[in-house]
Amino acid sequence: MTIDQLNAMKGRDEKFSSITAYDFSFAKLIDEAGIEVVLVGDSLGNVVQGRDTTIPVSIDEMAYHTAAVKRGIVDSLLISDMPFMSYATPTDAMRNAAILMQAGAQMVKLEGGEWLEETVYQLTERGLPVCAHLGLTPQSVHKIGGFKIQGREPQAAAKTVADAQLLEQAGAQLLVIECVPASLGKILASELNMPVIGIGAGPDTDAQILVLYDMLGISPKLPRFSKDFLQDTDSVITALKNYAKQVRNGAFPGPEHSFFE
Ligand code: KIV
Repeated sequence: MTIDQLNAMKGRDEKFSSITAYDFSFAKLIDEAGIEVVLVGDSLGNVVQGRDTTIPVSIDEMAYHTAAVKRGIVDSLLISDMPFMSYATPTDAMRNAAILMQAGAQMVKLEGGEWLEETVYQLTERGLPVCAHLGLTPQSVHKIGGFKIQGREPQAAAKTVADAQLLEQAGAQLLVIECVPASLGKILASELNMPVIGIGAGPDTDAQILVLYDMLGISPKLPRFSKDFLQDTDSVITALKNYAKQVRNGAFPGPEHSFFE
């Protein structure tokens, strides 16, 4: 899977799916299920390490999990999260993104808006593909004041769209948008050329992403925007395939998984 193929899917109005993975065995199953994009998320801080936030996750830990996931993947596009403070300056970003790319990532994901314009430009100029991440950005949880819906006010929604456009112009090739009203997810997908991957952003983004342990019902508390796909089957690969199918045919996410103003 390449970014060109994802762009072509957006052009044909074909939805694609994405899931987080942290190890070889699950990555292999996700790849075999035909999920187009695999993210080594820094959510590993929560679901693998049992921490309250993603803030303690280090670049070495991200590289370790990226290398493990890479060994399980044949077809999917592999994105890795840049962890907290690993891209505080463009120089930090280039050094740390190189570590993830050398571990096997094909793209890196960074949380933040306007302040990342120069960093995204410098990374992409040097051949490092970038996925932007806006809306609820968990690495900023203490600044935001909790894990809550973003972009509800018209001004905040407009700022999110402006930031996304700026980052696209700077070179970003994918956007993850997390926990925003469905109306904002829809606007982003129509205003941007790059594919928009939503999580808690309604049904109208170009793609969906879920945290693996949520969609397998392993997480202690299922977020409202997620769904336990293992509830109707006792096979993990069937659950993964059902998720991909329901994203493709628009059955997931439903209104019960979306936020409205
Ligand atoms: O770290 C992660 O798992 C993520 C997804 C929630 C998009 O960034």
